[in-house]
Amino acid sequence: MTAKVIDGKAFAAGLREKIGGEVARLREEHGVVPGLAVVLVGEDPASQVYVRSKGRQTVEAGMESFEYRLPAETDQETLVTLIRDLNSDPKVHGILVQLPLPDQLDEALVIAEISPDKDVDGFHVSNVGLLNTGQASMVPCTPLGSLMLLKDQLGDLSGLEAVVVGRSNIVGKPMVQLLLGENCTVTLAHSRTKDLPAVTRRADILVAAVGRPEMIKGDWIKPGATVIDVGINRIPTTDGKSRLVGDVDYAAAAAVAGAITPVPGGVGPMTIACLLANTLTACCRQND
Ligand code: GUN
Repeated sequence: MTAKVIDGKAFAAGLREKIGGEVARLREEHGVVPGLAVVLVGEDPASQVYVRSKGRQTVEAGMESFEYRLPAETDQETLVTLIRDLNSDPKVHGILVQLPLPDQLDEALVIAEISPDKDVDGFHVSNVGLLNTGQASMVPCTPLGSLMLLKDQLGDLSGLEAVVVGRSNIVGKPMVQLLLGENCTVTLAHSRTKDLPAVTRRADILVAAVGRPEMIKGDWIKPGATVIDVGINRIPTTDGKSRLVGDVDYAAAAAVAGAITPVPGGVGPMTIACLLANTLTACCRQND
């Protein structure tokens, strides 16, 4: 079998176009322009690339982008003061603080300062609690984008066996909640799971979010399974350059799976598209 390639790049482009249409309608009919504030502390190169691309796509969708770049040595009080200012700014509907933060900053305390209504990452404990109890909330962007691709591919997910590998707050845990909400039978596996290949081989839906390059091998996958690879890992190549790979050994997995997301061009583009969707949702709720 050769797996169908799930084109996240095309799906995300379609989603951004729909969002752009809604943004234009909001502006014309209500005079409201959704605004997204992104805060970057320090100079982590990968974070800089993400933040630049978030800013560009926000503007392309017709929204306002506010970027705050703070030095790596920024203290907690300065960051908290900025977040409080953004919380009370009516032009800002969504706030995203790029993670990871430098060591002197307390991530949990920083996230707790973001108004839950403006928490477009869905990381605030009150949004986590709402998601975990099946109530309307801001849903973290990468799991939300992954679920959209799964539903587009498979339709009804009821009763399917889903295995999520990786227990992060950003992806693994919220992904479990979303799949439960779709009536899947869900297993959350991780780096300490015993006989991980036996667990992943049960999966009709396999979501890989461990951050280890090409860890999941072809023979860990059930024939015909749908594989969502959330990993984005840069590995060196023999010519001294580097390339991006996922958490799944793509060539081997594509020979076994029914459908698979590539890296790049799979889940990655969905994350920013869902961030724009969450910003639009936040703006509509704040102007209701
Ligand atoms: N760093 C890596 N992924 C994310 C994300 O989805 N949101 C934020 N704020 N930081 C990240």
